[in-house]
Amino acid sequence: MTDRPFYFGTNFKMHQTPTESRQFVSDLHERLGSPDSVQLFVIPPYTSLVWAVEEAVDTGIWVGAQNMHFAERGAFTGEISAAMLQAAGVDMVMLGHAERRQLFGETDAALHKKVQAALRAGLRILLCVGENAEEKAFGIEAETVARQLKIALHNFRSDDLPRLIVAYEPVWSIGEGGTPAGVADVEYTARHIRATLVTLFGTAGQTVPLLYGGSVNLDNCVDYARLDLIDGLFVGRAAWQVAGYVEVFQAGFAAKTEATS
Ligand code: PGA
Repeated sequence: MTDRPFYFGTNFKMHQTPTESRQFVSDLHERLGSPDSVQLFVIPPYTSLVWAVEEAVDTGIWVGAQNMHFAERGAFTGEISAAMLQAAGVDMVMLGHAERRQLFGETDAALHKKVQAALRAGLRILLCVGENAEEKAFGIEAETVARQLKIALHNFRSDDLPRLIVAYEPVWSIGEGGTPAGVADVEYTARHIRATLVTLFGTAGQTVPLLYGGSVNLDNCVDYARLDLIDGLFVGRAAWQVAGYVEVFQAGFAAKTEATS
């Protein structure tokens, strides 16, 4: 952790109607205000984006999209372009979430094109990387995240680094069937992610915020947040209700503040 803010956010996945998403942003702001040294975000489904964006105006809360297509336009039924997201006013697009990679066959090469398209549209990118259970069993966590980063960020210019955030999310730790990762495992792979960013961008690679996600909850958030290598938490289930979001955020932020003071 440097002088970066503490990042904290949730991905709603396929949950929340537009009304519920809007209410979530409103309640969240009422509960937390706009705390210093913190960057909060929510990533609702497409149908909620415009409403959530409207509600988030002047709150400091970023609203992100869960995915996008790499083409600017075309005959791609059911898809959304970067320009559409930009016009909807989103602050960020998440790319490469494990569920996109696993369930929808998203490849590293496709992600490379998505990253480039997001940059062209002026979007901030939350790039998710992480090994699956098989890759972990073979001990190739470091190689896996390096490959994912090197392909997705191929031709990424250092000038654009302020628009990049990386989330480490081991696939085996995500969702209902996921197992929370041990702190040593998180540290090990986070260190390799940072090293890969430095390989790609030199010292500028140190400036990219690195978040951790995967079964983060009130019990384990403190241990992850304390890690020097981790700049914030990216939470699913435990933050889908405002009360849970607030509790995990407060515990994580307190731990980070204590660890860095
Ligand atoms: P989870 O989801 O916290 O429910 O495991 C994390 C994620 O998918 O980002």
